[in-house]
This record gives sequence, structure tokens and C-alpha cells, in this order.
Amino acid sequence: MRTLVKNIKELVGVETSPKQRKEGKEMSVLETVKDAYLVIEDGKVQAFGEMKDLKEGNADQVVDATGRMVFPSFCDSHTHLVYANSREHEFVDKIRGLSYEEIAKRGGGILNSAKATAAASEEELYDMAQRRLEEVVRLGTGAIEIKSGYGLSTDSELKLLRVIRRLKENSPLTIKSNFLGAHGIPMEYRGHQEDYVDLVINEMIPKVAAEGLADFIDVFCDKGFFTVEDTARILEAGIKYGMRPKIHANEMAVSGGVQVGVKYNAISVDHLEQMGDAEIECLKGSATMPTILPGCAFFLNLPLSPARKMIDAGLSVAMASDYNPGTAPSNNMQLVLSMACIRYRLTPEEAFNATTLNTAYAMGVSEEVGSIAVGKKANFYITKPISSYEYMPYAFGENKVERTFLNGKEV
Ligand code: NIG
Ligand code: FE
Repeated sequence: MRTLVKNIKELVGVETSPKQRKEGKEMSVLETVKDAYLVIEDGKVQAFGEMKDLKEGNADQVVDATGRMVFPSFCDSHTHLVYANSREHEFVDKIRGLSYEEIAKRGGGILNSAKATAAASEEELYDMAQRRLEEVVRLGTGAIEIKSGYGLSTDSELKLLRVIRRLKENSPLTIKSNFLGAHGIPMEYRGHQEDYVDLVINEMIPKVAAEGLADFIDVFCDKGFFTVEDTARILEAGIKYGMRPKIHANEMAVSGGVQVGVKYNAISVDHLEQMGDAEIECLKGSATMPTILPGCAFFLNLPLSPARKMIDAGLSVAMASDYNPGTAPSNNMQLVLSMACIRYRLTPEEAFNATTLNTAYAMGVSEEVGSIAVGKKANFYITKPISSYEYMPYAFGENKVERTFLNGKEV
């Protein structure tokens, strides 16, 4: 199957010599081709270039993109997309003055989601998640990481991970799964949380591994949740079973989360609202992608992660949605792109790299997605008629995506 997309006003995010990720000054490099064509063969990018150089061969499908731009699909490297219930009542509690930590302490928050998840069947969870995936595709996302973490018991965690496995099997998106058994401390373990950590290590991880259910191992390493010591133990156990660390760190406090993540070669450390100079230093020269979650900071009114400072220090930065019912009930990577520019002062070029190639790296798939490059999956979207690529972050809240293609097929 050969598809030609022609008369593209501007083809954005191409790579002639593909990189695994972009860091520091490289983040402001965004290659584009004006008045372009794109050829897809068997689901992969086969060629691209200027219309004047197009040698029209046989194509099974021709798409005319006159007036429209083409972008690589967003990669959303941090989501909790499998959940049973929304939590707008807590949202109202927060408006009335309760903090996220206070709600969590009295059994709301993650434990609220865990209760509803325990009551839902695998089938129900799958149907809900499937519908959510269809929505994110319409907004331009083509690859997504999905965590468990609303189970908090062995059975419920396995149920969530099996749902993610079914999504992987049936969805055109590129999906990676992350086991987040250590997301919250169940009520019955309060005061002796080391016993819950033992359960994660001795029972959950071996069972998850036996069914091959997780690509990554996650821990909510933060004040009021899991300690650096808990985190180290869990990551070591996950690594033994072939899961690479990819963790929550430094949302509530400068907690040592970044350091423990880097120590265990995490593919990413995520949140980073609370960062000191030591954290930035520690990330330098590491393989760990610092990942910021603008939707969560917006929704909880948290301090902003020092993205500008990190990029100026030469680091890579990725930005993902954190899509979840408690702290970021938004699936919209176009909005993340806008917030990257508006709230974190990234240039549009940096923001595109932060939400495509660098998030692809943060979920271990930057060799196959994250840019338009020969041999990569043909995951892209065609916009509505727009004036320039800067319009994408500028027009926040509007869906600029008209058509989406995953593996070269329109979805
Ligand atoms: O990434 N910080 C920890 N976990 C989620 C929130 C989960 C929830 O409140 O349901 C997050 O923000
Ligand atoms: Fe999260």
C-alpha cells in the first residue's frame, strides 16, 4: 500500500538525520519542508521533499493537503488513562480550599479511584479506556504510555495491566505499559507502609512479570507517598524482572526522587514541580528524560517546573499530559503544546520537540515515532487550514487537527 500526501503547505518536524532525543540548544531546531509531499509505503515513511522534486509514481491513495500542514503525531509519555470514575467532587473541594494532600489523607484522591476500579470489571474498564483512546487520536496523539496504579491490590493491578495489554493488541496507537503498584498507600497499610512495599515487591512484580504485562516500573516517590528508600527497593525489584524505571518525582517536595531515578537509570523522571540546582546537575549527562506535566500543575495550581532553566542548562525536556481523573483530567496534547509556550516560555520549536521526539524517547520509542523520518511509522496529522506552525500553540484550546493517520492508515 502506497499513499501520497501532496501539496502540503508545510511539513513540520522532519528529520534527515534522526536523533534519539534533542537537548539544550538542539531543542530549538525544528526542520520543516514548505510546499511538500510525503510518501508512505506499508505504514512507514518512505520519502518526503518539495513538490517540485516529486516524481509521481503509482500511489494507491492520494491525499491533497492544499492549505494544510502536516505534523508528526504527538507522543504522550505519561498517562493514567485506565480508570473507572471521574473525580469532579474533589475538584470542587479543591476550589473550596482543600489541598490535594489533604484530600488524599482523608481517603480521597488515588484511593477514591482505587475503590471504583476494584468494583469495575475488566470489560467495563476496557470499554471506557478504548473510548478515551479514540478521543486522544482525534486530538493528534499517536503514541501513548499508560500506567496501572488505580488498583493497589494484586488482583486490581493485574486487571488494569491486562486492560492495557488488550489496548496494545487492538489499537493502532503505539502503546507502552507502566506498572505503578506503588501509586498510593491503601488505608489498611497506613502506619506500616513497608508492608505494602513488600507486597508490591514480593507478590505484584513477579506476577506482573510472569504475564509480561509491564514495560516499565513506576513509583510515586514524594512527600506523603513513597520514600526514596521504598522507591529504591521497588525499582531494584522491577529491574530484576526486566522493567525499566520511569517514575513520578518531585511533585510535592524536593524529595530525592530525581536522584533515585537517575541512580537507577530511569528512562524518565516526571512532574518536577519542585526542582533545585542539585536536581538539574544530577540530570546532566544522564540517560533520564526530565518530563514536565503542565496539565497537572495547571489543574492543581502548583509551582511551574523550571523548564527554561533546564533547557538553558543543556538538558532535554519532554512534556506530557498526565491524563488522569485526579490531577489532570485533560487528554489534550495540543493544550500541553500551548502551555509549554505560554506558561513555561518554550519557543514553539522547543515545544514541538518536547511533545513529540522527546516524549517518544521518554517512552522508549523514539526510533519508531516522534518525527517524520524515512523508515519511521507514518504517524501524523493533517491540520485544518492554518497560517503557520506557530498557530498551533498560539490558538490554545482549539482543535486544529482535521485528519489523523497512524501506521499510514487514516483513523
Ligand atoms: O501523576 N502524582 C501522582 N499520580 C497522579 C495523580 C493521580 C490521582 O490523583 O488520581 C499524577 O498526578
Ligand atoms: Fe502521573
